[in-house]
Amino acid sequence: MAGGAMAENMCNQKLLPVFHITGGEGWINDPNGLVEFHGEYHVFFQYYPHDCKWGPMHWGHVKSRDLTHWERLPIALYPDENEDGCFSGSAVVWEGKLWLLYTGFKQNEGGETVRQLQCLASSDDGIHFVKHGVVIGEKELPADYCPWDFRDPKVFRRGGMFYCIVAAKKRGAGGRILLFESEDLFRWKFVVDLFERDGKGFMIECPDIRDDMGLLLYSEQFYPADGNKFLNVHSSLYCFGELTLPRGYRAEGEGEIVDYGFDFYAPQTFPNTPVMIGWLNMWDRTNPFEKYGFAGQLTVPRRLIRKGNRLLQQPVYDGVPVRTEKDFSTLSDHLLVGAVKVQAKGLSEFSVCLRKSDEYVTLFERRGDVWIFDRSKSGMPISGAEKDADSLAGIRRMPYEDIEQTEIEIVSDLFSLEIFVNGISLSSVICPPTDADRLDLRISAGSCIYTRYQMK
Ligand code: FRU
Repeated sequence: MAGGAMAENMCNQKLLPVFHITGGEGWINDPNGLVEFHGEYHVFFQYYPHDCKWGPMHWGHVKSRDLTHWERLPIALYPDENEDGCFSGSAVVWEGKLWLLYTGFKQNEGGETVRQLQCLASSDDGIHFVKHGVVIGEKELPADYCPWDFRDPKVFRRGGMFYCIVAAKKRGAGGRILLFESEDLFRWKFVVDLFERDGKGFMIECPDIRDDMGLLLYSEQFYPADGNKFLNVHSSLYCFGELTLPRGYRAEGEGEIVDYGFDFYAPQTFPNTPVMIGWLNMWDRTNPFEKYGFAGQLTVPRRLIRKGNRLLQQPVYDGVPVRTEKDFSTLSDHLLVGAVKVQAKGLSEFSVCLRKSDEYVTLFERRGDVWIFDRSKSGMPISGAEKDADSLAGIRRMPYEDIEQTEIEIVSDLFSLEIFVNGISLSSVICPPTDADRLDLRISAGSCIYTRYQMK
């Protein structure tokens, strides 16, 4: 594969998730530049190939025809003498070319961020990119926003114009999302502060907007916890509202949590396909996967559905059913790389042990009015900056809804579990040995169907 060779002694055994996107080796964080180009899905990501730690950011690159099988491509963007890293951004197809808008990041000698500038790059073949330099700089940023917290442009085209939303921080205030417009991708003009309110956290990151659904997605650093929600050090949120170009966006209500798990951040969607991918990890966590030579992976792609004011997610998984059971109360199976679906009517009890061996187990079960996910006995421990009791105990909870039909979908790869209950997701990484693969399920329901899928 393309990329920097990591020192041989960095890892003692190479092992990678099977169908989740990674850098192959080294560190990755946010998904970037999700785009359809020449009939294929392209995904870029924040990438440091030389170590299992964050470093000068490159853009790693993969593509796929079916959103499940990914082909690794050469690194798309390297930092150069003008920038200390190529931070997150997005892509747009225009006049047969693939254009990337990303944040060029500049530090001073003391390592402080002094400037974040929006830069342009383009490619004819979707593989090799030419940089065109800064296109939204300090000149375009109104004076009351901080030039060192100005990043993650999401570009799109509507009615003959290009628009771009960028995360920013108002001086002495909170995170904001700014709207810019351009006729040619090179000359940009500030339009409006789109968010019109201060984020409750420190700074907004990686905004995305879909006018087809009225959806605004954004991530927020140090967002305050609220009950079982927003317990991770940083959180991803969504809200619905109306985007009226070029006037602005009217958000309805407060931001809602996108995913209840330990490991989800900085999600982005494809311009023409309402499918979202997030970073399946969190800042400031220990990395047990270093021994396998990697740090970070992306979530399974999820199709987004709007139901009233709720955002539902359906994992995109190219699998074939290999086992079906009906109306059982206990069931045992093996699940390492694959998916299961349980459809139940009149569910009262549900408990599943995943990635089980004599020594390890990851639990997901209903307890009263919550679903509990417990990774305390999953395998190699993972700890982070979170100090609340649930985080320290390896637990996440999401609300249980007493409804007639319940559908639970579990997507499993070597080092992750993504659980969807009626479209609400809870995603976490785990680090058990690969021989911990047993699944034991207990259920009490009026009727139920279990389907086990194998990847095609
Ligand atoms: C979000 C983020 C972005 C930034 C990138 C740097 O996780 O902090 O705001 O562009 O990561 O790697």
